[in-house]
Amino acid sequence: MMSRRNFLVTGALAAGAGAVPTTGIAADKKPRPSANDLRDWGAVRRQFALDPAYTHLGLFYMAAHPRPVRDAIEDYRRQLDANPFRTVEHLVFENAEPQRMTAKVCGAIASYIGGRADDIALTHNTTTGLALLYQGLPLKPGDEILVTTHDHFVHHESIRLASERSGASWRKVPLFDTHDAIDADAMVERLRKALRPNTRVLGVTWVHSGTGLKLPIRRIADVVAEANRDRPPDRRLLLIVDGVHGLGVESPDIVAMGMDAFAAGTHKWMFGPRGTGFVWAKPEVWATMRPLLPSFSADELFAAWGQDKAPAQPARASWFSPGGFQAYEHFWALPAAFEFHRTVGSQRITRRIHELNGQMREGLAKLPHVTLYTPRTEALSSGMVCFDVKGMTPKQVMQRLLDKHRIIASTTPYAVSYARVAFGIQNTPEEVEKTLAAIRAMAA
Ligand SMILES: Cc1ncc(COP(=O)(O)O)c(C=O)c1O
Repeated sequence: MMSRRNFLVTGALAAGAGAVPTTGIAADKKPRPSANDLRDWGAVRRQFALDPAYTHLGLFYMAAHPRPVRDAIEDYRRQLDANPFRTVEHLVFENAEPQRMTAKVCGAIASYIGGRADDIALTHNTTTGLALLYQGLPLKPGDEILVTTHDHFVHHESIRLASERSGASWRKVPLFDTHDAIDADAMVERLRKALRPNTRVLGVTWVHSGTGLKLPIRRIADVVAEANRDRPPDRRLLLIVDGVHGLGVESPDIVAMGMDAFAAGTHKWMFGPRGTGFVWAKPEVWATMRPLLPSFSADELFAAWGQDKAPAQPARASWFSPGGFQAYEHFWALPAAFEFHRTVGSQRITRRIHELNGQMREGLAKLPHVTLYTPRTEALSSGMVCFDVKGMTPKQVMQRLLDKHRIIASTTPYAVSYARVAFGIQNTPEEVEKTLAAIRAMAA
């Protein structure tokens, strides 16, 4: 098969490129911390170059890189700066697809989420992933996309843009009426009732960044499976999940949750290089889709172009990784982030994040001048806590925490905004108590 590399070497570059020895691709080889090195949380925290003058409660927003990720980025950057042509040729194009860096990166993601590398497209963030899913699906007038009122702007906007192009309609449903009446059974039932025969896609968010609510994705997947029981294959209902605030916090058994497609950035809770993310989808879903952008990751696309034809085979995940040259040092360093999570221990990470945020929720629930919007139960919450302080706007709460206490909180970017704190593995129970004390003092 004609790959991009074959195409180049049969052309004008053949003599020169073939004669140059490899650059000795040794990046990514610095000693990595072992599980023993990371056995206490202080040692984990020291892997991050965070400013010690602050209490950082917004680390989910954009990752600070732990040392192994910084080292990997730096090693690849140095190689690219020393020999950009040979490094990119060697790592991106020269070998057969399974030996390329893209395959290595997809393999690292796949082994973490419990799927196949071949079912993963690399993206720059969650936003690109959601956009390529909704725009790529074969939707048409008469079809409907159902989503909830609680999803992020980029999820709704991806759907709005895709509906305008495809002619499919879309509808938003609330999963609950008030924050103190959130119940898993009731949410699942609402979704079941909201489905119509022409609903072709159900879009949901694993962990809501507006309230901190975590959805029971497995149960929602069961509702979708039930709806599909009597549908022909070409009318199936698909479940798409925006998973960015669950990835790196909750159990990594992600594919087992049963959705059809999952999009997430790896530059938030996963601590991956900034500007990286992925979409996992079932191969039968990829096969029905059409890419939006040219890919550099699938040889058959380049070969078909060389023969002035459209590709003959059905689409596959790698067709959807946006092509063009990239910030390669960031993508190539992504396996270091998955390795870091594995070394710290993903169950241990889940437990720690739940403990810290649980401590915060319970503390806030005792304060009469605070309204807590995140469910108190562990089954319906994750790494974020959203709340209001009586008599103050969320922005004023955020500003007071910063100005008086050097605590970095955030506000939720939704039509109704709340104050938000998020405790990650870099944080401590003492920081929870310090934040609670600062909020307690806002009573006056
Ligand atoms: C629920 C949710 N989805 C998507 C995004 C966008 O993420 P990204 O920057 O990876 O595109 C955000 C941003 O924080 C978010 O909160």
